[in-house]
Amino acid sequence: MDHPLVWVLILVLLNFNTDVSGQVVVPSMNPLAVGSNVTLNLVPESPINIGTWSYETTTIVLFYPSGSIVSTSYRGRVSFNRSSSELSISSLQLNDSGRYTVQGMEPVLTAVVTLSVQEPISNVTLRANATDLVELNDTAIVTCSVSSGTSFSYRWMNGSSEVAASDRVRLGVGNSTFTIVSVTRYDEGPFRCEVINGISDGTSQPIGLNVRFGPERPAVTSPELAMTGHVVTFNCSASSQPPSQFSLFFNGSSWVVHLCGLQQPHCQKQHCLQDAHCY
Ligand SMILES: *[C@@H]1O[C@H](CO)[C@@H](O)[C@H](O)[C@H]1NC(C)=O
Ligand SMILES: *[C@@H]1O[C@H](CO)[C@@H](O)[C@H](O)[C@H]1NC(C)=O
Ligand SMILES: *[C@@H]1O[C@H](CO)[C@@H](O)[C@H](O)[C@H]1NC(C)=O
Ligand SMILES: *[C@@H]1O[C@H](CO)[C@@H](O)[C@H](O)[C@H]1NC(C)=O
Ligand SMILES: *[C@@H]1O[C@H](CO)[C@@H](O)[C@H](O)[C@H]1NC(C)=O
Ligand SMILES: *[C@@H]1O[C@H](CO)[C@@H](O)[C@H](O)[C@H]1NC(C)=O
Ligand SMILES: *[C@@H]1O[C@H](CO)[C@@H](O)[C@H](O)[C@H]1NC(C)=O
Ligand SMILES: *[C@@H]1O[C@H](CO)[C@@H](O)[C@H](O)[C@H]1NC(C)=O
Ligand SMILES: *[C@@H]1O[C@H](CO)[C@@H](O)[C@H](O)[C@H]1NC(C)=O
Ligand SMILES: *[C@@H]1O[C@H](CO)[C@@H](O)[C@H](O)[C@H]1NC(C)=O
Repeated sequence: MDHPLVWVLILVLLNFNTDVSGQVVVPSMNPLAVGSNVTLNLVPESPINIGTWSYETTTIVLFYPSGSIVSTSYRGRVSFNRSSSELSISSLQLNDSGRYTVQGMEPVLTAVVTLSVQEPISNVTLRANATDLVELNDTAIVTCSVSSGTSFSYRWMNGSSEVAASDRVRLGVGNSTFTIVSVTRYDEGPFRCEVINGISDGTSQPIGLNVRFGPERPAVTSPELAMTGHVVTFNCSASSQPPSQFSLFFNGSSWVVHLCGLQQPHCQKQHCLQDAHCY
């Protein structure tokens, strides 16, 4: 240091002072992105005749009525405004995260702020270990990953609502994975993961699960009256994925069967209500 004795004297004096000033350090932004600049202001503003700005235990700048001394490790990166005591630091790195303290000996004051420097999130990717599943038989694990980013948290979406953990739905590994035990037909999604870290966020592409189920016991309806010589229509329906094919039996023997499978116009993806026209 340029004036070691001055440093030692001032720091010793300062360390006997406790904070009674009520002033706070207000950063221009916090958290901050890697590469950005920050300005630290003392609020309410008050001129400090003799004091220091420091990062953790390292002094950044020592200032006194006739000037200021910037520590060699911060030269070129910081600028200090003598009249407002404002400190600016440019091109912040992750290791600039931490406590910044301004200490005044004249007047006596101490104010602290903790800055958090973070890397923006990029490339949020979602992966499922399997997407073709059998209802109640299979377990799916969905994993969310990012290429870069720091101090982030995850949020999982199922369609437009947030995934709620339950005995069947478990979040794991710091919420980066999500397990559905015994998938059901209602677990088709689309699922997305959102990653947030205070300076940025990212959302993955959606993933849908294809859950096969059924067919369940079919329902058959028939008219109460049928007239000889006329066509009778029996409607059969059964929930299934993929859609079912139907066979009709009369007096125990198979009838001429009209297959009402994929070509049915009102056959929806999951709850397939199909008509069997039986002659
Ligand atoms: C220093 O701060 C004072 C008071 O806020 C302001 O008027 C002045 O423009 C600042 N000087 C520089 C170089 O930013
Ligand atoms: C950060 O400060 C440097 C030096 O003062 C300046 O050249 C640069 O444009 C600033 N960057 C941003 C993002 O404000
Ligand atoms: C902080 O990180 C930057 C870039 O990652 C590196 O150049 C610098 O040496 C580090 N500083 C300290 C004090 O570790
Ligand atoms: C995004 O992440 C995926 C999976 O981790 C990786 O395969 C891909 O190369 C990444 N893309 C970019 C542009 O980083
Ligand atoms: C997906 O993970 C679950 C749980 O570990 C496992 O039971 C299942 O076999 C996996 N599926 C595939 C296709 O690897
Ligand atoms: C589901 O699991 C049951 C019992 O383990 C098995 O009998 C059945 O064949 C499985 N279903 C399918 C479609 O794999
Ligand atoms: C995981 O998510 C739950 C609810 O969404 C939240 O309460 C919890 O704090 C998260 N855990 C971690 C490690 O992020
Ligand atoms: C997804 O949402 C559907 C419809 O709200 C719900 O029935 C299902 O249980 C949810 N699945 C998961 C894994 O959250
Ligand atoms: C069968 O379905 C058709 C079309 O949905 C409907 O018009 C008809 O009344 C139904 N018949 C019976 C017996 O339910
Ligand atoms: C079906 O069974 C009923 C009652 O057992 C009988 O009266 C009828 O003749 C049978 N019809 C045909 C087409 O086999």
